[in-house]
Amino acid sequence: DEDQTLRPQKLNEYIGQKDIKEMLDVYIKAALKREETLDHILFYGPPGLGKTTLAQIVSNEMGVNMKVTSGPAIERSGDLAAILTSLEPGDVLFIDEIHRLPRVVEEVLYAAMEDYVIDIVIGKDQQSRSIRIDLPPFTLIGATTRFGDLSAPLRDRFGVVMRLSFYNQDELGLIVKRTSSVYKTEIKENAVMELAKRSRGTPRIANRLFRRVRDFAEIIGDGTITLDITNHALEKLGISSNGLDHTDKRYLSAIIDKFAGGPVGLESIAATIGEEITTVEDVYEPYLLQEGFIKRTARGRIAMQKSYDALGKKYLKGLFEE
Ligand code: ADE
Repeated sequence: DEDQTLRPQKLNEYIGQKDIKEMLDVYIKAALKREETLDHILFYGPPGLGKTTLAQIVSNEMGVNMKVTSGPAIERSGDLAAILTSLEPGDVLFIDEIHRLPRVVEEVLYAAMEDYVIDIVIGKDQQSRSIRIDLPPFTLIGATTRFGDLSAPLRDRFGVVMRLSFYNQDELGLIVKRTSSVYKTEIKENAVMELAKRSRGTPRIANRLFRRVRDFAEIIGDGTITLDITNHALEKLGISSNGLDHTDKRYLSAIIDKFAGGPVGLESIAATIGEEITTVEDVYEPYLLQEGFIKRTARGRIAMQKSYDALGKKYLKGLFEE
């Protein structure tokens, strides 16, 4: 699968997230030196920043296999038991969207994480009894976009908790160059920087835009990704020069045009643009907040001057408020 080669396999190939890399390097080396199983790790942050990639790298560096599942995929405690009992000693179990684990499953996970055992109830009513199954030692790596939605008992059972942040343009530029060499596609330096600037701080977006721009380069150009072709392709894709996409712009325009610049509640914005509340909160807002397009207040979201500038609208609010 093409995507696999795009993902770095070792920590030193991974670009960005410097602090996280440094700490993981220490924890991995220490565990290997003591011949221990690595402690459980929780990665959280917006989608597309590399949580799954880091989990795979941790597994590779530890020299173990990784089993992949997700919170919503594990419906009953028996599903979890089946996965856990199939692990080899030291293996990594990666649970994506771990905040969506059903409550009953989560409760079975506590003892599995803490003591490498699971207690399962078999039979019904008077005939029911609990049996304890020993598990191989394993490392749970959880990933979530919603740290606040994890229950305290689950959060507390991770020895390592790491928040991924958005990438800066230099880092995204390096990722784009790496991607161009994986795909054996030539790209001009100014096109690299343009893609980096327009990727919302997110490697997954940089790589997706890269593939689309490469399509244009092959069909309307000679295969080399130039700045002209990049600008042309990104305009067709509805990506603004400031990197905002179609939904970002609809979000900002909802606040400004429908709610007089805010403050307005998340629910109202989501309803106005026809997106799920959680999608708006997890996918769109983090970047808009970090870049200062919006502000969150107790009374709701407010569009900042930068949003008016981005949409080419006059900013009058500052004259009367603040
Ligand atoms: N591809 C996607 N994310 C990456 C990263 N952080 N480093 C290197 N390649 C990547």
